[in-house]
Amino acid sequence: MKVVTAAERTSEVLAQIADLKKAKNAAFLVHNYQIAEVQDIGDFVGDSLGLAQVAAQTDADVIVLCGVRFMAETAKLLNPEKAILLPEQDANCPMAQMVRPGDVLALKEKHPGAVVVSYVNTTAATKAVTDVCCTSANAVKVVSSIPEDREIIFTPDQHLGAFVRKMTGRDLIIWPGCCPTHARVTAEMVLEVKGEHPGAEVVVHPECRMEVIELADAVRSTSGMLKYCAESAASDFLIGTEKGMLYPLKKRCPGKKFWPVAEEMVCPNMKLTNLESVRAALEDMQYEITVPPDIAEPARRAIDRMLEIGRESGN
Ligand code: 13P
Ligand code: SF4
Repeated sequence: MKVVTAAERTSEVLAQIADLKKAKNAAFLVHNYQIAEVQDIGDFVGDSLGLAQVAAQTDADVIVLCGVRFMAETAKLLNPEKAILLPEQDANCPMAQMVRPGDVLALKEKHPGAVVVSYVNTTAATKAVTDVCCTSANAVKVVSSIPEDREIIFTPDQHLGAFVRKMTGRDLIIWPGCCPTHARVTAEMVLEVKGEHPGAEVVVHPECRMEVIELADAVRSTSGMLKYCAESAASDFLIGTEKGMLYPLKKRCPGKKFWPVAEEMVCPNMKLTNLESVRAALEDMQYEITVPPDIAEPARRAIDRMLEIGRESGN
């Protein structure tokens, strides 16, 4: 009996994915943290802002969103008529569960004149009670666009909120959510790896604690990190975000060296999707994202407003 090797099995799955993709006119939108094999089949690989921008423009009939649920929901809000598939049903972002629409409404009651800014890492229901969304790439720009005399409620990430407060000087009312993967990292951990690589630049995500941000040479979204490291004169980098990020960084900058600031920076939800689940997604059209119309309409407005602010400022 002929033994089938792992490489032969993978190329068979890849061929099946390619056939299904063509038959269904599908596009694969993939986040930077996904496993290498999934990134390699992406039509677009990027950060949350890039995924939303591309989702708003694609002419595919089906979008397979390889990432977590809020990214697929955002794609659905922007494409109500398309099928949006999340290959792994349990790929949720725990931060998105940390604030509920009722929490935002209670804050709005206390601060009736406030503008609500919510990170895209929220459920569609929370976006529906939000005035404008932001991502890690544009949070500073979005907050800066709000008139000085308006109060601002910022949900759900306290660390991104603290970073935006520092960058804009605005007095934000911040919800105390966080990303469990990024919040795990302490200044002590960063100082320890810095000691091992004294010449390396430290590049971190704004979901990190302020004590970590203060040690960084640059604070960027995941795609912002790719640009920063490609353009920097430095050759060695310590990366303060989910470890999957090292794959696109090494691909984009083959001559440079990258280390995670902490080995434990893994988002289990981002690691669920694999080639088999992408194949199953297309075969069985699963798991299709739906958003009730009464939530979809106001939630879409908050996303559209964010994309508009980007267009007004040229990105
Ligand atoms: P980016 O938008 O920077 O890719 O971040 C998404 C995310 O979930 C970070 O943990
Ligand atoms: Fe959510 Fe954190 Fe995972 Fe990003 S890394 S998807 S914020 S849990």
